[in-house]
Amino acid sequence: MTISKGVLLSLTKSSWIRKMFEEGNRLKSIHGEDGVFDFTLGNPHLPPPPEFVDRLRELVNGPQEGIHRYMPNSGWPQVRDKIAVDLVKRTELPWTGSHIVMTVGAGGALNIILKTLLNPGDEVLVLSPYFVEYLFYIQNHGGVPVDCPTTEDFCPDPEELLSKVTSRTKAVIINSPNNPTGRVYSQSELQQFCDALRIASERIGHPIYLISDEPYRKITYDGVKCPEIAHCYDDSIIITSHSKDLGLAGDRIGYLAVHPAATNLPDLVAGCTFCNRTLGFVNAPSLFQLAIADCQHVTVDLSEYEQNRATLTKHLAQLGFRFVQPGGAFFLFPHSPQEDDVQFVEQAMEERILVVPGTGFGRAGHFRLSFAVPNEMVERSLSAWETLAAKCPALGRDQERTLD
Ligand SMILES: Cc1ncc(COP(=O)(O)O)c(C=O)c1O
Repeated sequence: MTISKGVLLSLTKSSWIRKMFEEGNRLKSIHGEDGVFDFTLGNPHLPPPPEFVDRLRELVNGPQEGIHRYMPNSGWPQVRDKIAVDLVKRTELPWTGSHIVMTVGAGGALNIILKTLLNPGDEVLVLSPYFVEYLFYIQNHGGVPVDCPTTEDFCPDPEELLSKVTSRTKAVIINSPNNPTGRVYSQSELQQFCDALRIASERIGHPIYLISDEPYRKITYDGVKCPEIAHCYDDSIIITSHSKDLGLAGDRIGYLAVHPAATNLPDLVAGCTFCNRTLGFVNAPSLFQLAIADCQHVTVDLSEYEQNRATLTKHLAQLGFRFVQPGGAFFLFPHSPQEDDVQFVEQAMEERILVVPGTGFGRAGHFRLSFAVPNEMVERSLSAWETLAAKCPALGRDQERTLD
C-alpha cells in the first residue's frame, strides 16, 4: 500500500460536504448550473471590501522594498502590533504584538496551536455539531477528539463538559458564530461554560486551554454581538481569519492571539511560532498580512446574506421546518423532517436541492444549508422547497401543531 492507513481511511470515509459537492457537479452536468440549488458549500462569494482592494493596490504599486522577503515566522512585527491595537480596543486587555502569530487562515492557526499543545493521546473536546475538519486537525498531531454534545438548541453544556474531561484533556475547541448551526453564544452561556472549564482544570491539576475559533465573528445579524472569550477565560487562544469577513478564503490569511494572562504564555507563543515554521507554512502570506493590517474595521457587504437569511428562514418556517434562528455565520441547521437525515438529503436531491446531512457534523436528524449563495438562486429555489415539503408528511404535522 502506497499511502498511509490513516489517510486511506479518511479518504474512504470522505466528508459529506465533499460528497454532496461531487453530487452537485453530477446534477449540474445533467440539469445545467441554473437547474440545481446548491446550498452545500460555505464558500463566500462576496467580493472583498473596496478599502481592502485599495490597500492591496497601494502595496502592489508602491515601493516594494523587502515586502516579498522572509520575515519573522510569527509575521511582520508592524502587522502584529496593529492586530494587537484592535484587540486592545475590543477587550481593554493588554495585548501586544508579542501575543500574536499571523497564520495561513484559521485552518493553519488551528494546526499550529494543536501541534504546540498535544502529546500523543492527549484529548481535545469538540462541541457537536462541529466543523468536521477539527477531527482531522486533532488527529494530525496525535490527539484524540472527544465529542462533547451541545444542548438541543446547540448551546455549550457545562454538565456535559464536566462529564467528558479526563486527566488527558488538554484543550477544548469552541466556535461562535457556529458552523453548522449559526448559533452565537451569549456572554452568560460562555461564562457558565468557562466556569465549568475552570472547575475541570482544577480537578485534573493542569490548565485546559480554550481554543476559540472565530472566523465568523463579524458576520452577525439583527445587531447580535459576539462576546469576547478573553473576558471569560484567561487560558484562551483566539483564532480567526479573513476568509469570511473580508472574502479572502483563497488568500489564506488569519492569526492567532494568546490571552495576555494565559498560563505559560511565552512557551505557547514560541511553540506556535516554531510550529508555523516547521509545519511548512514558514509564515503567513506577506502581501496579505500587510493588506489586512489596516482593514480590521471593515467587512464584506453583508446585505446579500441578510436577504438570504430573511427569505429562507421565513419560507422554510412557513413550510413547517423547525430550526434555531441563526444569529451569525451563513448557515441554517434545521431538523430533518425524516428521522434519517441522509434519506431526507437524498429526497431533497430529487428536487435538485443540495444540502448536507447533520450526520456529517456529528448531529444526526438535522441538515445544514449554507446561504452564502446568490440571492437569485435562493429565490429560484423557493418552489422546489415547496415541492419537497409537500412530500414530507412530518412537516404538515408539525405545521398543524404550530397552528394549534
Ligand atoms: C468553523 C470554521 N473554522 C475554520 C475554518 C477554516 O477557515 P480558513 O479558511 O480561515 O482556514 C472554517 C472554514 O469554513 C470554518 O467554518
